[in-house]
Amino acid sequence: EAAEKGGYDWFMLKEIAEQPAVVADTLRGRLTDTGQIVLDEVRLSDQDLRDVTKIFIIACGTSAYAGMIAKYAIEHWTRIPCEVELASEFRYRDPVLDRSTLVIAISQSGETMDTLMALRHAKDQHARILAICNTIGSTIPRESDAVLYTRAGVEIAVASTKAFLAQIVACYLIALHLASVRGVKWGDEVSLIVNQLREMPGKVDQVLDTMQPVRDLAREHLSDARQVLFIGRHVGFPVALEGALKLKELAYINAEGFAAGELKHGPIALIGQDTPVVAIVPSPAGRDSLHGKVISNIQEVRARGAKTIVIAEEGDEAVVPFADHLVRVPRTPTLLAPLVTTVPLQVLACEVAASKGLDVDQPRNLAKSVTVE
Ligand code: G6P
Repeated sequence: EAAEKGGYDWFMLKEIAEQPAVVADTLRGRLTDTGQIVLDEVRLSDQDLRDVTKIFIIACGTSAYAGMIAKYAIEHWTRIPCEVELASEFRYRDPVLDRSTLVIAISQSGETMDTLMALRHAKDQHARILAICNTIGSTIPRESDAVLYTRAGVEIAVASTKAFLAQIVACYLIALHLASVRGVKWGDEVSLIVNQLREMPGKVDQVLDTMQPVRDLAREHLSDARQVLFIGRHVGFPVALEGALKLKELAYINAEGFAAGELKHGPIALIGQDTPVVAIVPSPAGRDSLHGKVISNIQEVRARGAKTIVIAEEGDEAVVPFADHLVRVPRTPTLLAPLVTTVPLQVLACEVAASKGLDVDQPRNLAKSVTVE
């Protein structure tokens, strides 16, 4: 087993380190300059994709957070309305589905029963199904109309890391493909995004090179925490949810993710000196005034005594006065930022768990693939 871990203490560490390659592999050979991709198994015509009027993304756990990120990209790039729904809830609320609905099922294992049952329900209502999956030939892709495989390789650690980044990449590819097939007219923007995507493996690598301070921070400041809050906006919101999920899964710390703007509507009551807050700051170059708004959210929690761990872009000087701990990530277009901002949160959770002497790869009560409803 030591050999399989390739010199790392845990499979999870190895899988985190593989992420630049996984992002590159999932992109490789799939993107034309016009944003069209070749799906792996297609039983859907381009006309079927042109006829789509509504998209639902169904998934569980970490895969559902990839779906939340996908929603931002899909709606922005394709203008098709898109909802993300936990697979375990989907069919029980009797969703409105028909032949013009595209359901995107995201699953690392391809065997998650909640996702499979939601998929079958959608199929019964004649929706088209597109799977994003990491396991070739598993049940979910077999039962779908089209498949895009993530190329993360086998993921052994129960807590998902590299499969998550691969899913996010696959979601971007599908969003671009839909935009392109449907003739959304902004060719230059598509080729710009394609080029930006091609830079992401290098950026993920850069993040990995700067993780020692995050490991030190985890050991020195978070291993005794009883509660940690994560805040973000726009695509930083699902990243906050994923960061919190990782910390609860691995370190058994009560961790919650919030949309930063929602803090004032309740969660701020949880803030005190003993509650570190991890903030994912959007790019200062990004949409509207979100950057400034997150900074004022950080000021609000600091004013109530919280220590702040701030994930922000290189060159973003506005965050410096409000960060007790500052983690830098490379400059990245807003929609693609989750590929870099997630990585420090994975490292943080892994290191906190390791410092508490916990089994990083096999957390209590969890299974890699849940094949019961
Ligand atoms: C389990 C795993 C999670 C995973 C979820 C969905 O709960 O512990 O890490 O995100 O299932 O799995 P899937 O294989 O469908 O992506």
